[in-house]
Parts: sequence; structure tokens; C-alpha cells
Amino acid sequence: MKKLYLLILFSVSLFTFTAYAQDHPKASAMPADAVTLQSPDGQLLLRFAVVDGHPQYTLDRAGKPVVLPSRMGFTLIGRKSLDHDFTLTNSKTSTFDETWEPVWGEEASIRNHYNELLVTLEQHGALDWQGKVIPRATVMQIRFRLYDDGLAFRYEFPYENALTYFKIADELTEFAMAGDHTAWWIPGDYDTQEYNYTESKLSEIPDRAEAMHRTYDGVWSVFSNSAVQTALQMKTADGLYLNIHEAAALNFPTMHLLIDTTSLVFRASLTPDAEGVKGRLQAPCHTPWRTVMVCEKATDVLASRLILNLNEPCAIEDVSWIHPVKYMGVWWEMITGKSSWNYTDDFRSVRLPGDEGEGVTDYANAKPNGHHGANNANVRRFIDFAAANGFDAILIEGWNIGWEDWVGNQKYYVFDFVTPYPDFDLPALNKYAHEKGIRLIMHHETSSSTANYERWMEKAYNLMNQYGYDAVKSGYVGDILPYGENHFSQPINNHYHYAVTEAARHHIMVDAHEAVRPTGLCRTWPNMIGNESAMGTEFKGKIHPGHTTILPFTRLQGGPMDYTPGIFQTDIGKFVSWQQGNRMSHTICNQLGLYVTFYSPLQMAADLPEHYEPFMDAFQFIKDVAVDWDKSLYLEAEPGAYIVTARHPKLSSLNKAADGVGVLADGKKGVISGATRFVYAIPDSVETFHGASLQNPRDVWYIGGITDENAREVEVKLDFLKPGVKYEATIYADAPDACGLPENSSQVTNHKSQVTSHKSQVTNHKSPKYNPQAYTITKKKVTAKSVLKLRMAPCGGFAVSLREI
Ligand code: NOJ
Ligand code: CA
Repeated sequence: MKKLYLLILFSVSLFTFTAYAQDHPKASAMPADAVTLQSPDGQLLLRFAVVDGHPQYTLDRAGKPVVLPSRMGFTLIGRKSLDHDFTLTNSKTSTFDETWEPVWGEEASIRNHYNELLVTLEQHGALDWQGKVIPRATVMQIRFRLYDDGLAFRYEFPYENALTYFKIADELTEFAMAGDHTAWWIPGDYDTQEYNYTESKLSEIPDRAEAMHRTYDGVWSVFSNSAVQTALQMKTADGLYLNIHEAAALNFPTMHLLIDTTSLVFRASLTPDAEGVKGRLQAPCHTPWRTVMVCEKATDVLASRLILNLNEPCAIEDVSWIHPVKYMGVWWEMITGKSSWNYTDDFRSVRLPGDEGEGVTDYANAKPNGHHGANNANVRRFIDFAAANGFDAILIEGWNIGWEDWVGNQKYYVFDFVTPYPDFDLPALNKYAHEKGIRLIMHHETSSSTANYERWMEKAYNLMNQYGYDAVKSGYVGDILPYGENHFSQPINNHYHYAVTEAARHHIMVDAHEAVRPTGLCRTWPNMIGNESAMGTEFKGKIHPGHTTILPFTRLQGGPMDYTPGIFQTDIGKFVSWQQGNRMSHTICNQLGLYVTFYSPLQMAADLPEHYEPFMDAFQFIKDVAVDWDKSLYLEAEPGAYIVTARHPKLSSLNKAADGVGVLADGKKGVISGATRFVYAIPDSVETFHGASLQNPRDVWYIGGITDENAREVEVKLDFLKPGVKYEATIYADAPDACGLPENSSQVTNHKSQVTSHKSQVTNHKSPKYNPQAYTITKKKVTAKSVLKLRMAPCGGFAVSLREI
């Protein structure tokens, strides 16, 4: 984490609003003496004022209102509310400009440039617990930051304050929208984000949410038909892209947004804890950032680093052990039902050794069910395939005792995270894997018993250290323990963070599923290399077309997602007969495109070796593609429709991997990764090499495209290639008769309210037949002057690798 240059943090004088208003006459109405702040490029204008004691703000872009006058503050439990009787006692502006280098990411360096305004508000007359007036003022500061691509603000409570310990009843922050925008949203929920997106007008949200509740068969902790989750992507009638989210959410409950459809005002709605408290604070302290991204183009939303920039710099001094991971897993066979997590079918109730109560379960004498996925032979099969194809790691789920009785009963002592099943030889399998240059990824399903996980965490992480596991996938399925808690409440958010910081102490990378949706904390804790926190591949045929074209605008704004792409056998019923009719809405080329359009330093090839084997020529792209980048170009995009992205791999990251980063427990190096082979043109026949062989890299780019249920044609100009250099392009494209949309799919019309027109050409043909595995692979010589015409089938996509000749 080296700062390239840290510039200025100095006070600048406030420019007058009058000057801005002359240029931009339609700017939102606010008192003439409002305090103002402009973005570095002068396009965004924030105004803040205390109107009759009430703090409020507005945001304009180029003279047009984006956020109309909106209230700020909190109601507290047993204390005077923090939304009235305020006096503005001070305001201070400053500017900041720095460029920093992420440990991993979409580019080698990120510019963090903003203007800041800190306002201090004072309120008098707070009463102490005896009902006496406290002589000190209640002090609330609001820190605003204006970037070229958006606004951020947070509340701060300094030490000198009538407030020391206080409890939030409600956050009152508003985001008053200036129109009935189109929005891509998932319903507010205290426990899960695993939903399809709905595209609708803001005013339609409650009716659409109500209709979904009546028909959906998933897990729901919905608290209001008017609530949506962040990141909320919107588009105005003028074509501006707005996105409301939060950043650096620590020691605070997760924010949802409640819409009032008459006024089109969103109000923050915090996740309560088991006692209904929406935040317990101790001054000095501050809230997470509330953000409003404002972009002219959809591609600018994908390029925005607003959320990362608002997080603190890396807190880990030695990051040498953190590395990108491309992995496979003993996983999809359980998700599809081909094999099981549990070892036996005989136990209705399991009591683990050391539990209170009678009848400890005897696994040693249990009768195996014959289809336990995490058995030694199956794990070896995956290790062999992964090693032969340049992967770094294998995830194995269902390796530890307890899976016969793990969900649905809010069981406290549900797993111990250290005891393997009888057919999983943990030391031997790690040894076997390391000999082949592969690491095993640990799995800790907590079943949402966070209290139990914290009890076992140290032992569990020590076991990982002992055997050389350096990454863990954790999971939080089911209702949270302690009883009554919500997945996104303050204490449980603190749990997820604790797991990450403890893991860092053990040099362990974390990929948490079902945890709170990320808010950019991976900048500070880059050992958080993945998260699920959205509907991922495991939902199979339930995933609506276009879902993956929305996630990069929403969920991925806060950090990478372990989406687990790479499913080549999309007809799940073909290999598990009882899943007949469960067909996924994508083509093979769509899955290839995801490796470029979705950013994650942790990428899975989720399907089974036997499903890749018939298509090894297409699988080659998954082998070749890198997962860490020094440059990313968002060429074309529209939420809910399509995305086309080009990326350039980070050589230092490939070299680090090739040099055997972290070196396996027994001193061996990892496999030569597929991307390293591709960049250095190392043939598969060369099995070992040393750092010294890492010379003469070829210039390499990858391009990926994905589309919704509409077939599209895009033209990709290759003007980002080095001028005058010849490249070989390998183009993986949907065949002319390919189609990833199952016939009679009712999903297509369900989730959209309108068909918007985009730059890409929609080229649908009539009633195409489901044909997801049809693709073509062509090779072409190209230069920076070339233009590729690429057609995507319904629910299709493409991938292109380009290597300097
Ligand atoms: C849900 C996770 O998302 C999935 O990946 C995992 O396999 C199961 N829980 C079991 O832990
Ligand atoms: Ca999940």
C-alpha cells in the first residue's frame, strides 16, 4: 500500500452560491445563506443549511436538482431528537487529492480527489438521566465530501458533547428525488440480499414489492413494501445515472431506504438489533458514509471508485500473503443435489462432542450414505483436474461433522469447524494438494450461530494455519443466533468484521456468504477477497435474465462478489433427474464473459470436471483469464441490459503467483497459473519454472460481454491496444443458433417495466430454441485499428483474449 503522492489537505474559502446560481439558474431552492461546496470539476453543488433549526441539504448537477431539500438527523431513545433546535456554529472546507494502489483490484492505482465541508451543529437543552439540563451542548457534525462522481456525507459526534452513550431510534436522513426515476432494486430485508432485481419506476415500488411477496417462495425478512436495499441504481428521464449506497459501514446497522411514493422521498431505515435498537453509539464516533453517485454514463458508474475511496487505507502492514485466487470446488454437486454435504442419512438429531445434554453422536460407526461429496477420492479427482488446468485452489464443503442437523433449528452448537468426517483425511488431502501446487480452501458454515463461531474461531483458524489453508469461505444460512438478531444489525455486522480482522491476524483470506453486503471495507482489509451477499449462481434456474448485468452497478460497488460463474451444463435436470425443468438462463459464452465483466480477485470455475471435459476448447478461456488487473475499460453498458468490459492483467500479481506467493505449507510453489502461462506463452508441457523464466511477457487484454434476454450486436474498437503491434485475438462467441433463454420463460416479462433503447443493436429472432452450449471459437490477427463485431445470443455473451504476437 504505497501512497504515490499525498497532496494537500488545506482550507479553501467557500465560494458563493450566487456565482453558481448565475450559471445554473434551475438549482434547487435553499436559503440564500446556505453553505455550499462544489465538486472538483465544478459540476456538482451541495448546499447545506439549518432551516428553523432543522439541518437539510440539496445536491445539484450542472444546475439541475438531483436531491431536493432533504432532512438530516436522528431520533434517539430517551433523548431529545437530533433533527431540530440546531444552530450552525462552524463550517470548514478543505480539499484532498491522493492516488493510492490497491492490493488487488480493477486498476493499478486509484485517484481519491474530493472537496470537503465539515459543519458543526449545536443543540442545547439535553436532559440527563435525572431530568436535569446538561450544561454542555449536544454536538453533531456532518462531514460532506463531493467527488466528481458523487456526494458522500456522514454524521460525527465529537468527544466534547452532551452525548456520550446514546441509542438510535431512527435515522431521519432523506434523499428527496427530483423525478420518478427508473430504478433497479431488491426489497428491503433485514436478513438477506438473495433476490432478483426488479426494474420499475420509483412510484411503482410498493405495488411491485407487494406482488413479489405474494408469489416468491424464498427466505424473507421483509419489513415494509416500501423498503429497498442499497446500492440502489436509478436512471433519470434525462439519462443521468444515480446510485444511493453507503460506505465504510462499521459498528453500525445496515441502511435500507423507505420510499414515500407521493413525494418521491427516500428515508434511511436502519436494521434493528434484537431489542429494536438501531445503533448504540459511544462518542467520539461517526456513522458510515451515505452516498449519492451521479454519473452521465452507465459506464462511469462501473468505473466509479467512490465507495472504495471513502474507506480507510489498508490496515494490514504485510500484505505479501494476500493473493488473487482462481478455484474450483466440491460444491456444485451439492448445490444441484448430485451429492450431499452430510456423511450419513441416519441422524435426525446430532449432538457434537462437548455439547451440553445427552447422546453425543457417534460418527465413527455411522453408516455412510454413499453420496457424500467431500470424500477422499472425489477431492483427489478435483485436485487433479484443477492442478492440470492451472487453478490455485479447491474449495471443499461438507468436510466437517454436523451437516445432518445444521439448519432450521437455530441450533447454538451446530459445528465445531475442526473435526472432519471419517472419509475426509484432512492432513493427507492437504499434502496431496500441495504436492500438486494446489491449496485447499476451508469452509466454515456457521448456520448463523455467530456466537458459536466466535467460540471456535481461534481453534478453527489455528487448524488452517497448521495445514496451510490460507483462505476460508464462511456462510451464514438461517436465522441468526443470538436469538432475535438480524443478519444486518450492528452486533452481527461487528461479528463479520471481527471474523475478517481475526483472520488477518492468522494470514487468512475470507470469502463470506450471506454476510452483510460490502461497503468497500476490502480497501482497509484486503484479506476480504470475496463476499456473496446477493443472489448468486446457486439459485440456478431462478436467476432472471439480465441479473448479472445489474450486479456490477449495485452489489459490486461495495466490493467483489463470489458469484461462482462457469456453469457449462445449464440443464440441471440432465445430470440430476429430479431437477428436471431447472434450466439456467445463460449460454456458455455468457459464463465466459462474466470472468471479465464481473470483477473479483476470487473467481471460481463452478461446474464439475465432467461438464468441462466435453468443452475444453471453451474452458481454455477460463484457464487463460487473469483475475487481477492494472487497467479496466468499461466499453458499453446499461443496467438490466448488457455490459462490455476490457481488462489488462496486472503483471506484478501474476509474477507474485508464479513465484509461489506465500509458498505452500511444505515449501512447495503453487501451480503455474493459466493466466501466467497465457501472458508468458508458457506451453502446458512445461511443468516447472523459476522466477527467472518470467521474462518477455506479451501484451495481453481480455474482453467480456454479457446480455439479458435480448440478442445484441456490439462493435468493439480495439483502439486501446498498443499502436503498431499485432495481436492474436481468440474470439469465443455464441453460435448463430445459440440461445440461453429457456422456452416459455415467464421470467422475462416479470422483472421489467419497460424496454429502454440502448446503444447496442438488439437483434432478436423469433422464438429461439434453448441452445446454451452452441459456440464458435475463431482466431484473428488484429491491431489497434481493428473493430470486432460481436453478436450475443439471448442470455448470451462473448469473451475475447488478445495476445501480442
Ligand atoms: C449457502 C452458500 O451461499 C453456498 O455457497 C453454500 O454452499 C451453502 N450455503 C452451504 O454452506
Ligand atoms: Ca448464498
